[in-house]
Amino acid sequence: MTKQFIKPLFALFLTLGLLMVFVFASAQDSGFRNPLNANGGADPWLTYYEGNYYLSTTTWASTWYMRKSPTLAGLKTAEPIEIYYDDDPSKCCNFWAPEFHLLDGPNGKRWYFYYSAGTANTLDNQHTHVLESEGTDPMGPYHYKARVFDASHDTWAIDSSVLELNGNLYFLFSAWEGSFQNLYIAPMENPWTLSGSRVLISKPSYAWETQGGNTNEGPVALQHDGNTFIVFSASSCATPDYKLGILHLVGDDPMVNSNWEKHAEPIFERADANSVFAPGHNGFFTSPDGTESWIVYHANDSTNGSCDGQRNTRAQKISWNADGFPELGTPVSTTTILANPSGDTGIDPLPDLGTPKISYFETYGLEGSFLQHRNFIVSPGYSTNADAQFVIKPGLADENALSIESVNYPGYFLRQQKGKIFISSDDRTDAFLQESTWYLRPGLANADAVSLESYALPGSFVGKRFGITTLVKEADLKTELEREDATFNLK
Ligand code: AHR
Repeated sequence: MTKQFIKPLFALFLTLGLLMVFVFASAQDSGFRNPLNANGGADPWLTYYEGNYYLSTTTWASTWYMRKSPTLAGLKTAEPIEIYYDDDPSKCCNFWAPEFHLLDGPNGKRWYFYYSAGTANTLDNQHTHVLESEGTDPMGPYHYKARVFDASHDTWAIDSSVLELNGNLYFLFSAWEGSFQNLYIAPMENPWTLSGSRVLISKPSYAWETQGGNTNEGPVALQHDGNTFIVFSASSCATPDYKLGILHLVGDDPMVNSNWEKHAEPIFERADANSVFAPGHNGFFTSPDGTESWIVYHANDSTNGSCDGQRNTRAQKISWNADGFPELGTPVSTTTILANPSGDTGIDPLPDLGTPKISYFETYGLEGSFLQHRNFIVSPGYSTNADAQFVIKPGLADENALSIESVNYPGYFLRQQKGKIFISSDDRTDAFLQESTWYLRPGLANADAVSLESYALPGSFVGKRFGITTLVKEADLKTELEREDATFNLK
């Protein structure tokens, strides 16, 4: 090659090389895709604090977890760290709707972690509670502080949140009055004590608030340019038409019902073209550099999703209209790559962590009838929705055996106790481990199928007695039908 070409060619290769580096680098910052939490991502609360994002979501169990990541996309693979567990029977279970707010406590700023909880195996005793952090680390440690309630209306209550306005603190929550699940506000003397009775601020009244149930819940304050709003979830969370509405404070005193004006139309709802259904129970957060407002919410991926652990966590940027109202836009598809929040140079950890193999237990000889849970009780049924879907995992009491986890209630396992067959969350007892562990045996009616033998009670199998799913002794199975009822096609 003659000399006069070497310099220009070198310059060309150098330029191409730099271009490649730039393209690769920008690809790393290309953004992220939802969901941020693919399983058990309901009722999310997400905030950015001192260099990290923190995310917590409903667990339906007795434990709270916190995910932490320097990037929004990193939340997808951040390990959920246990920050609190409660075995007090009065408030052990059904942990719902976490919100953690940095507020003034008696010893300075503390994280106050609000949530709903109740007693085991029922949803009728839900109340609102709050934890207090020892310092200013959102990872805790946390200690139980109080049940937050209005002594003059001490009823079922959920979805607690707080509003800070003009130096005062207010408690927001959802509670029943007759057949209506309404929104209420009450004044607070400190982050764990109300200083007065509740006032009604929203009752489901528009048609878009009463699809599947007269429901207003998940209130969350949103303040911008001197305006104060409360965004809330409306209609039943078990329908694809769960959606967001908004209240606007039009007077000075938030404790006056008429000072809250409800916008006549929803501001965020299902987007069938994007396969987003039941978007709701949201929070808001600000980008790392403080210039952007974002929404975090949950949604289902199909119309047959329900109000369960399959709802997943999503986030997207919002904007502001000329009238001062937030523009939440349309919930985006999970295939859409979103730009990272301003000031976040995150990456989207692309590797798929693998989806667990879903198993069904079809009653032998009864095609289409699958073991499934309803109100935690397990019995055969003709649905193959998430209630009939399980993941087989190493045995909780013995890794050489197996345990069977519900797909839509993560952390809930197939359990036998005194003959009852149900799904149960970890109550931290040895009995839970023993009673939620099984052996997969050749089918009692056909060795090509399977039977589920209790680890805790060898010789006893999941079967039926007088039409009820229960634990049956192999020795007691006299008829072919009884043997078939204790045998399953594992699909
Ligand atoms: O997801 C559990 C509960 O269901 C939420 O706290 C509430 O918003 C909804 O009713």
